[in-house]
Amino acid sequence: MKTGPLVYVTRNIPREALEIIASECRLTVNPYDRVLSKSELAEAGRDVEGLLCLLTDNLDADILEKMPRLKIIANCAVGYDNIDVEACTKRNVAVSNTPGVLTETTADLTWALLLAVARRVVEADCYVREGKFKSWAPMMFLGHEINHRVLGIIGLGRIGLAVAERAAGFKMPVIYCNRERINAEEEKALGVEYRSLEDLLKEADFISLHVPLNENTRHLIGKEELELMKPGAYLINTSRGPVIDEKELVGALGNNELAGAALDVYEDEPQLSPGLAEMANVVLAPHIGSATVETRTRMAVMAAKNLLAGLRGDKIPNLVNRELENQQ
Ligand code: GLV
Repeated sequence: MKTGPLVYVTRNIPREALEIIASECRLTVNPYDRVLSKSELAEAGRDVEGLLCLLTDNLDADILEKMPRLKIIANCAVGYDNIDVEACTKRNVAVSNTPGVLTETTADLTWALLLAVARRVVEADCYVREGKFKSWAPMMFLGHEINHRVLGIIGLGRIGLAVAERAAGFKMPVIYCNRERINAEEEKALGVEYRSLEDLLKEADFISLHVPLNENTRHLIGKEELELMKPGAYLINTSRGPVIDEKELVGALGNNELAGAALDVYEDEPQLSPGLAEMANVVLAPHIGSATVETRTRMAVMAAKNLLAGLRGDKIPNLVNRELENQQ
């Protein structure tokens, strides 16, 4: 008979990761190809010691109460705003995430969205598919320049930095704002200049968001911030939806307060604010920042290793609630 701690994985993930877990644990995987409801998740986690979950699973204080034996939640994502970390710490439940392995991939998608919205790639693709392309035309699908324009990065963490590095190829000056300013030597080496949020919003032609979602960043971009942006500027979001007040964004786009937006994440995911999907000057992706075979495999394997470390009582490589470190 199979032994080892009970583990639940909330959605099918790459096989490599499941094999790692199954080598030491009694593993159950969500059999449905969908997010579990709150009651299904509570039931699935009732007796488990380890939970490998995704950003679509809401692990709040309520649901934690229903999982009394839980030792570790291994989130298969770098962001962990779906988990009440404080409540976990109180209950002595370790939380881990998957930093580093999706940085470049998410930066690539950020650029894909930026290019797509400025050069109207999605609209143009639809036009061709619909059989409307009858001849080249001098005024057809005119977008806006990317090269030499100012890129503003809000949040210069791992992903923000990887986005900034790619700007050199487009000869774009990069300005950034961050909770903490990096030192002048580093700024010089990276070729970035610091601005306050207000100055960045006024100056940048493309603004890309790379902050984690927390109480300080919810609606960081709201009505006032949108008003500060240049009418010709574009807003790109591959971080978390609630960083933007989406209703205000729809209003601002409708009033031509900015040129366009490209979004991979939404305030009330997967719902879109009314009007957003009807706008021609937006590009919309279904939260696919890290969605490559290679990266999703790396993330799942990393989450699996975090999970096993937590269950064995070993040091957890990517522990989020470090307060628990001494207790491991
Ligand atoms: C994706 O959004 C992640 O946080 O990993």
